Amino acid sequence: MKIEELKALLKEMTIEEKVGQTIQLSADFFSDQSEDLTGPMNEMAMTEEKKYQVGSVLGISGAKETIQLQKRYMEKHRLHIPLLFMADIIHGDHTIFPIPLGLGATWNPDTVKKTAEISAKEAAAQGLHVTFSPMVDLVRDPRWGRVMEATGEDKLLNKRYARAFVEGYQGTDLKQDLTKLAACVKHFAGYGAPRGGRDYNSVDLNENTLREHYLPAYQEGIDAGAKLVMTAFNTIDNIPATGNKRLMRDILRDEMAFDGVLISDWGAIGELVPHGVAEDNKAAAIQALTVGVDIEMMSAAYSEHLIDLVEQDETLKELLDESVWNILRLKNDLGLFENPFRGADEETESLSVFSDENKKAALTTAEESIVLLENNGVLPLNQEEKIVLTGPLKDSNDILGAWSWKGDREQAATLAEMMGQRLGPDSLSIVDESQFFEGQNSFFMNEIHLSDTVIVALGESSEMSGEAASRTIISLPEYQMVLLRELKKLNKKVVAVLFNGRPLDLSGVVPLVDGLVEAWFPGTMGAEAVTNVLFGKFNPSGKLPMSFPRSVGQVPLAYNEDSTGRPMTDEKRNEKYLSRYLDSENTALYPFGFGRSYTSFDYSECTLSSQEISMETSLTISIEIKNTGKIKGIETVQVYVRDKVGEVVRPVKELIDFKKVELEAGESMTVEFEITEKQLRYTHADHSVRSDAGEFSIGIGTDSSAELTHSFYLEK
Ligand code: GLC
Repeated sequence: MKIEELKALLKEMTIEEKVGQTIQLSADFFSDQSEDLTGPMNEMAMTEEKKYQVGSVLGISGAKETIQLQKRYMEKHRLHIPLLFMADIIHGDHTIFPIPLGLGATWNPDTVKKTAEISAKEAAAQGLHVTFSPMVDLVRDPRWGRVMEATGEDKLLNKRYARAFVEGYQGTDLKQDLTKLAACVKHFAGYGAPRGGRDYNSVDLNENTLREHYLPAYQEGIDAGAKLVMTAFNTIDNIPATGNKRLMRDILRDEMAFDGVLISDWGAIGELVPHGVAEDNKAAAIQALTVGVDIEMMSAAYSEHLIDLVEQDETLKELLDESVWNILRLKNDLGLFENPFRGADEETESLSVFSDENKKAALTTAEESIVLLENNGVLPLNQEEKIVLTGPLKDSNDILGAWSWKGDREQAATLAEMMGQRLGPDSLSIVDESQFFEGQNSFFMNEIHLSDTVIVALGESSEMSGEAASRTIISLPEYQMVLLRELKKLNKKVVAVLFNGRPLDLSGVVPLVDGLVEAWFPGTMGAEAVTNVLFGKFNPSGKLPMSFPRSVGQVPLAYNEDSTGRPMTDEKRNEKYLSRYLDSENTALYPFGFGRSYTSFDYSECTLSSQEISMETSLTISIEIKNTGKIKGIETVQVYVRDKVGEVVRPVKELIDFKKVELEAGESMTVEFEITEKQLRYTHADHSVRSDAGEFSIGIGTDSSAELTHSFYLEK
């Protein structure tokens, strides 16, 4: 529809029809199941008539369902304005990829973009228009259950992934390309830093930290063209984000130049009341519309009060028009006025959903996400070994993780099944660890006794991470630790495979194992990916996108911490009055960027092309990497800098570039990075983002423990 026609449509709409567009209902309100909806309808201040005025539906799927509903809805709507269909396609639609924290471990934005393209194609064929993804919240606290949904603790990595997701979902022509979805960057802002790691809790970020570390990934998603942003449940500056004018008007709309649709998170407008900043839904409606929340997801403030409020207040009427204009533009950008059924097609759906091609991509992505944490030579396994597989997750298909939308666990093979396909019955014995605990362990002990290596599958259930799944203890469940300790006594080689949705406290695990594989929740093809890594069919190359602490007492923890006035350094190790603990090292057990390989890489001394750069000139830092092992491997080479003196305190180091390189056994490669002034900019006290002249340290390494061995100057 042309812009003039769209403006004419807005003019033609009644206030009731305009308010309708700002309301989003879940799909069950429209299901023809006989379930009694009286309660939910009342809660939403809904009537049958108002229901057919709403602007969007969330949580629907299936071409048949979306076509049916759109048809029914369009017939009833006076102006035939089509519905928007939205859903949480977070790491796959039917074909499920590793959880985003696992995707973060690939250090491969191209891989992540591919997963978004496939997810969009599967969902668009069912008639979906919007995905509530990417979640780009920066995370430093593994107690928070939704770290599984984030891509990690570093703003550069998160920026690269935010762009990859948005470009993968939206493509370059959302109107014509019917295999794409509109993307929704969430949760704005700072949702990943709740006090105590407890979901929905208040956030204490100072504005400089918010801007320096947390906002860049949202900005990158917006710059990549994301059509929607979702408000966060938490407070910022002690004001709930969903009602925070400075955050949503001054920062999001003005400074970050976001002009798309701002949608509340589920119930978040209504939650302004329990937050204690609105005395009732009427006040909440005024507050949310004033800050520019265009769509209310599943609370009743707008449906209950907006018509009356707008009829009495010209300002609110103008604000309502702005919101409805944003919504109509989104529908128009998706081409829904010309084609309300857009990509929905049962034939296309059956061809594109869970196709072999998509499963293959899920397998390779899962392989690329796996991080090898420990290996004292026990891996890769060889076919001649006698292997015992045990542990509570050995035969679990609960490996898709939270937010797996239409993913079906029944379509996910288990580790036992995949290993059984790789090894014959005389090489693989799958034993139930419960026997061990029930004292009937003669068979169990005998099998272990006869084996060479024990693979033990451990970790979390998918419900132990995700939304409203925060934990105060982040070690493995105690019975799993008991099993590991008992296995250790048997003097066999033990490899632990972890299926989990957060960095765990593995301090107690490391002394008990010879191999340790972090598989996250690896998705539909995860078991095959793990098996391929265990047997060396894929040489693991994943790198941690988030620090693994030595203890939960360290969190929140991140590699790019402040120096403090009393930094704990090796030289001062024996001094008392330093920023340190009495009972733990400050460092992570496994640092950001860490991950081993079945081969080894040697890093030469790095060299700088110059000792200084300016606004106009750059330098090149290069290093020679050699694969000193016996097999091909992939290494992620990382560049870290430190700004020696800033107007505000600067991190002890920060990632400013990285490259994944593949090297044959014995092969050497010179890897180069261009360093420019732009990469050295930071948020000053007045919130301006610019660089300062001065000295910078720089270093290249295999993870964030890299030494900053060189320095250069930025001249102004
Ligand atoms: C949830 C989540 C949000 C999700 C929305 C719709 O509460 O916070 O990420 O997109 O509701 O399901």
